[in-house]
Amino acid sequence: MARRKKIYEGKAKILYEGPEPGTLVQYFKDDATAFNAQKKDVVDGKGVLNNRLSEFFMTGLNNIGVPTHFIRRLNMREQLVRSCEIIPLEVVVRNFAAGSLSTRLGIEEGTPLPRPIVEYCYKDDKLGDPLVTEEHIAAFGWASQQDMDDILSLALRVNDFLSGVMMAVGIKLVDFKIEIGRVYEGDFQRLVVADEISPDSCRLWDIETGQKLDKDVFRRDLGNLTDAYTEVARRLGVMPKSAQPMSKPTLIN
Ligand code: C5P
Repeated sequence: MARRKKIYEGKAKILYEGPEPGTLVQYFKDDATAFNAQKKDVVDGKGVLNNRLSEFFMTGLNNIGVPTHFIRRLNMREQLVRSCEIIPLEVVVRNFAAGSLSTRLGIEEGTPLPRPIVEYCYKDDKLGDPLVTEEHIAAFGWASQQDMDDILSLALRVNDFLSGVMMAVGIKLVDFKIEIGRVYEGDFQRLVVADEISPDSCRLWDIETGQKLDKDVFRRDLGNLTDAYTEVARRLGVMPKSAQPMSKPTLIN
């Protein structure tokens, strides 16, 4: 069997060369990391859930005309995506205060924000993905002014879509992070939502109870991460009960 070419391995995913030019296969691992990989574990079934959930969100975005890198899901852990040049920014959108915003500004977690706040972090693990301003982005040439206009518009459209989808199943979208890629089409370039959208990259709180259904469960040792992600998938109708990931070999009587 021919070994396929690994293009990149990150903390939670691996990218392999795709079957056609301009495509990649994105493989979702079970590895969970937090605090810039200082905390690590393997969470059985996480990759399967994130593959399904990211497919669900990216397909929804494609369907409403928000371009993404997603083409189609291939199997339980892999999806076919368009190859793109990732802009070295993490684009964070916040609807409620939480996480680093609460720590930095001393605002209590859960405080509603008067309007969505968009933040940019420079993607560099060695530096701990520092918060940057549009001045830094322009000065260091990470993105042009036109790119920034497009990124802001994409980020807010993703926020509207995700907030609505989650609200419909009783979940509050507190914040999320997306990454943006450049796709070249002849002489033109287009920006697309890339990477993944999953409970690894969002804060999701149950509207009634405030229960956390996202990676904070792992970061803050709040319980079983697979259970939290399975609950999100169940509410969205993404993973029928019969197709839940089998984390361990199960004895069938
Ligand atoms: O940590 P912070 O509060 O800045 O995170 C904001 C949002 O961005 C959270 O939903 C978090 O899960 C996501 N995030 C991410 N990857 C990072 C940093 C933050 O997905 N490297």
